[in-house]
Amino acid sequence: MASLMVEPATNMLNRWTTLISCGQAEIDVEREITTTAGEIIARTSFGLSHQNGNKVFEKLRAAQTTLFNSNRYVGVPFGKWICPKKNLEATKLGHEIDQLLLSIIHARKQSWDGSPQKDLLGLLMEGSHLDGRSGKSLTARELVDECKTFFFGGHETTALALTWTLLLLSLHPQWQHQLREEIKQVIGDEEIDFTRFAHLKKMEWVMKEVLRLYSPAPNAQRQAREDIKVDELVIPNGTNIWIDVVALHHDPTIWGGDVNEFRPERFKDDSLYGGCKHKMGFLPFGFGGRMCVGRNLTMMEYKVVLTLMLRRFSFSISPNYRHSPSIMLSLRPKFGLPLIVKPL
Ligand code: HEM
Repeated sequence: MASLMVEPATNMLNRWTTLISCGQAEIDVEREITTTAGEIIARTSFGLSHQNGNKVFEKLRAAQTTLFNSNRYVGVPFGKWICPKKNLEATKLGHEIDQLLLSIIHARKQSWDGSPQKDLLGLLMEGSHLDGRSGKSLTARELVDECKTFFFGGHETTALALTWTLLLLSLHPQWQHQLREEIKQVIGDEEIDFTRFAHLKKMEWVMKEVLRLYSPAPNAQRQAREDIKVDELVIPNGTNIWIDVVALHHDPTIWGGDVNEFRPERFKDDSLYGGCKHKMGFLPFGFGGRMCVGRNLTMMEYKVVLTLMLRRFSFSISPNYRHSPSIMLSLRPKFGLPLIVKPL
């Protein structure tokens, strides 16, 4: 899977080199990384190399933009009538995406020779024995749904983890330097040896500290399945609950007085909880049975892309950056992230 990530990331960095050599020093890295992460997740989920893969990717992006505008009414009674035009558009795009993915699955079925392509769809098809004769078989419909879930769950979140990382590394050049040194020692300048990734420890601390300060998934949701009593408060059966992850991650009573500071080393001796006094105080990937299934994949993508970026460029804040983290489903920089990018 990791090898599928290198090409889109390298293409992005080559594009940056071209922009810089044409005199453009400032790059909106949020937009760039989001596009690249979308390409990566599309490749790792259903193989972008297929000619229909590109079309699916474009339509998924369009559907996401449309859903952004209508999603806030999910769960609101008659909510789908509040933005009927957007809803209709999203439904239409949804059908088109399904058809494109079904055609990819159909084409793979036709040319199936028992050796799957190295992406999620290939693995699912291999596991599900598409002829339906043995084992646990997934229908084509279920395969389509799995691909879509991975795309929506895994593309923007990872992009935002990288985006906020570049902001914090620009503000803390000493950490930029430390990570570059670690990359030099662990990976070197050669082609990336993915088996060495587990040794990028400082990069892991940085990732966790970024997810703590700017959690791309700012809340988790649950529904009470029975009346729940918390001290004197009764939460009635059926209540939808939003767990405010941002508030938890910034609570000085469980994190201490330095809660708002960027201190990746807090994860050095306590890699799971970063020294937080409460075991439910650090929830970037949720918790329990519904915890994020993509957390290992995201860690791999984070390391691949950040390694490639830090080996080639240094980053500092552009005077045009306006700090405005905003919750639009995910936690995003409202005005993008323009950075001054310099080749090393
Ligand atoms: C930094 C990156 C990511 C963050 C912050 C993140 C965060 C989350 C959170 C908070 C949840 C809800 C957990 C809960 O309710 O307890 C979740 C669920 C999920 N995530 Fe991620 N995620 C990330 C990357 C990914 C990636 C790369 C993928 C897929 C390739 C992915 C796929 C999913 C799926 C399928 C679920 C639903 C799991 C279920 O309901 O059983 N995520 N994620």
